[in-house]
Amino acid sequence: MAYEHILVETHDNVGVITLNRPKALNALCTDLVREVGSALNDMEANNEIGAIVLTGSEKAFAAGADIKEMADKSYMDVYLEDFITNGWEVITTCRKPIIAAVAGYALGGGCEFAMMCDFILAADNAKFGQPEITIGTIPGAGGTQRLPRYVGKSKAMEMVLTGRIMDAEEAERAGLVSRIVPLEELKDEAIKTAAKIADLSRPIVFTAKESVNRAYETTLAEGLRFERRTFHATFATEDQKEGMQAFAEKRSPKFNHR
Ligand code: CAA
Repeated sequence: MAYEHILVETHDNVGVITLNRPKALNALCTDLVREVGSALNDMEANNEIGAIVLTGSEKAFAAGADIKEMADKSYMDVYLEDFITNGWEVITTCRKPIIAAVAGYALGGGCEFAMMCDFILAADNAKFGQPEITIGTIPGAGGTQRLPRYVGKSKAMEMVLTGRIMDAEEAERAGLVSRIVPLEELKDEAIKTAAKIADLSRPIVFTAKESVNRAYETTLAEGLRFERRTFHATFATEDQKEGMQAFAEKRSPKFNHR
């Protein structure tokens, strides 16, 4: 399928989606979000792909929802089209791991897009923020809910109330990003990391992702029960047998995703 606002590539078993609307610093207009959703659905259905990288340009991962597109909408417009939720949630329902590789600005919806992914690798020039308050609105794609879960209440509240932008080092210290890599290595490192995941057992990767996500949706007791049951379930897979047998035989495992 031909896309206008994104580039789609595959590197062996890794799918890469690059936001590509440079004149607007990858502002997330409706069509761009729709294209990302469509590309993700294709990658989810493609058995060759085991993990996905979502990235932008060196200057901007994404500078937010498209302010020009939003500016004149009425309450009834945004309510009826379920604005911002509609179309964005594909990132959170995708079972294959998605790594956000963030360079430059990840502001507003851009920061929220990144936080919907499974983890964020940041280039050393990355900048994160929820500046919606400075344009008379609030984060609308999970910023008030996911940011506190990543960085805690105090920092999230300061960022949401003031619109202050944090740099990559602060984002790493706060736990928003898993690690920082030099800008020129970001894409390669993200693909390498995704390939490492894609080479592992697909059902076990799905199970691990589902179990970590459960930590953010339930109580500790329920989460631990879920983990125990899904851990037990891994013993019903061929890949658990292969993985442990390969360890005992001092060889690399050959997972067949069953
Ligand atoms: N929406 C629409 N267009 C945007 C945009 C956005 N979020 N961010 C940047 N652009 C456009 C600019 O309008 C400009 O276009 P023109 O050349 O046609 O004027 C172009 O991208 C380049 O931007 P700047 O000239 O502003 O570039 P800069 O380097 O001087 O500044 C910036 C960069 C600090 C990121 C600045 O562009 C900026 O503040 N952008 C808006 C950030 C923002 O408020 N994001 C939150 C949006 S609301 C939201 O996301 C709601 C939600 O929760 C989902």
